[in-house]
Amino acid sequence: MERKGVFAGRTVAVVNDLSADEQWYLYSKARELKEAAMAGRDTGAFRLDERDYQVYLIFMEDSTRTRESFRNAAEFLGARTNIFDAATSSFNKNESMSDTIKMLYGYAEGSTFVIRSRLEGVCRSLEASLSRYAEQTGRPRPSFINAGDGKHEHPTQEFLDEFSFLERLGWKRDHIHLCLTGDLYHGRTVHSKADGLGIFREVELDLVAPELLSMPPHYVERMRDKGFSVREYASLDEYLASGKVAPLWYFTRLQLERMGDAVLERAEGLRQSVTFRRDMLGKLGADTRFYHPLPRDRMNPTNPGFLDELPQNGWDAQSANGYWTRIALLGMVCGLLGGDFEGEPHKETNYVDDFVVEAEVAESRKPEYKVGIKPVEEGIVIDHIASGEAIGTIWNNIEAVRKILGLNVRSSHGVYHSNLGKEVYKGIISLPDVISFGERDLKKLAAVAPGCTLNLVRGHRVARKYRLSMPPRIYGFDEISCKNPACISHPDHKEGVAPEFLRKEGGRGCPATTFVCRYCEKEHGFGEIWDL
Ligand code: NCD
Repeated sequence: MERKGVFAGRTVAVVNDLSADEQWYLYSKARELKEAAMAGRDTGAFRLDERDYQVYLIFMEDSTRTRESFRNAAEFLGARTNIFDAATSSFNKNESMSDTIKMLYGYAEGSTFVIRSRLEGVCRSLEASLSRYAEQTGRPRPSFINAGDGKHEHPTQEFLDEFSFLERLGWKRDHIHLCLTGDLYHGRTVHSKADGLGIFREVELDLVAPELLSMPPHYVERMRDKGFSVREYASLDEYLASGKVAPLWYFTRLQLERMGDAVLERAEGLRQSVTFRRDMLGKLGADTRFYHPLPRDRMNPTNPGFLDELPQNGWDAQSANGYWTRIALLGMVCGLLGGDFEGEPHKETNYVDDFVVEAEVAESRKPEYKVGIKPVEEGIVIDHIASGEAIGTIWNNIEAVRKILGLNVRSSHGVYHSNLGKEVYKGIISLPDVISFGERDLKKLAAVAPGCTLNLVRGHRVARKYRLSMPPRIYGFDEISCKNPACISHPDHKEGVAPEFLRKEGGRGCPATTFVCRYCEKEHGFGEIWDL
């Protein structure tokens, strides 16, 4: 089959790998399919019927619904469906995931890998390594679909959740008022809501969880940045007393398997504050619907059994929607669907390495750089290091520059007054024997001491001056690593994934700028990236 459409070979590691229009396309296709199937009409347009296209299910964490709905969706599509037995595989002989997938990729003309893992960012890293391999071998790129990675994201659960909300709201996208409750800290399905709810024009979101289970602040910030109006409550009692109760509720279970001992010990009390009781029923609006990604804990469900037969039960229908939305998604990435897509496609961010700018050299008769440090006749002076910061921070930054650039040469350094103000200080390192900096060192310097200037001194005068700002990407250095122990690129996992950090859009400049790991998306303060 000729693979067509904007979706062929795409990876869905996070919700945002599909633009809002592309997500809407997915919901429209899933709706079309579900309605046709329910009415007994022809669903042939959704069948690939190609045995040389494989869907490989690789589940390294427990799953029922996600795995089974993907398996059935792949069967419906008519692809060759394989279930990889991770527990007895060469992963136990320390084989890397990338090596394993390269082999499986060779078994068919086209491939989608559906992966669930405890490690975060797996699909993004495999997308990078297998795309390189596909290019080398001149074969089509495989797709990777994240079926849940640690406590990071669960995009396909998000798609079926949004599909279910839209169904309930009569496919209207102007407004949604939703309550998220349960374990908002560890639950990946609620984290994915920060992006998935973006298909609605107006979002009111009530977050109900005690502090230890509350939504991590960077997700709340992301929600507010997107214009969601977010309210937070510590328990269901507090929420119901507020009088502004949502018509749609999304329950989650406590993710005991991801909790540290300190939280586990208090799990019982925490659970009570997010468990629905019969006496709360009277405080709900008439049309309230409850959702849950499932499974619920059979001993201690947060949405207890007495609700099963009541009209509030929306979760059974919701879980069935996993089938329709996953058929549509597989159909898109294998290239069967997408020819009729119209709208704004997802855009890859282009990182422009524009962090080095030549600055004007001020005319001066006096030789520069002689106050307190040896005058420089020929060489390089790094100036304005951590300018304006506290003196201790400036010293730390000087030390970091020396260490990371390996400046074990004749040199001097110090903290000096800046001409920007009376109490303003900056760091200077003077390197009389260094004549030039290679591009790699320049990148390193920009990443370690953004805002500094690099002065090329010739005959006691500054011949050229370069201003270095924070680079948009920090990668390719041995001295950096992601500090999230669950990240696929964390050195402990020895998967050979090269760390890479992306400057967060909207960062407020050094040192407030944060960087996110390309794989697990954990935010790092700029100093945290470096292994010093
Ligand atoms: C969820 C998951 O795995 O994150 N389950 C699912 O995919 N249906 C929620 C959970 O395990 O609590």
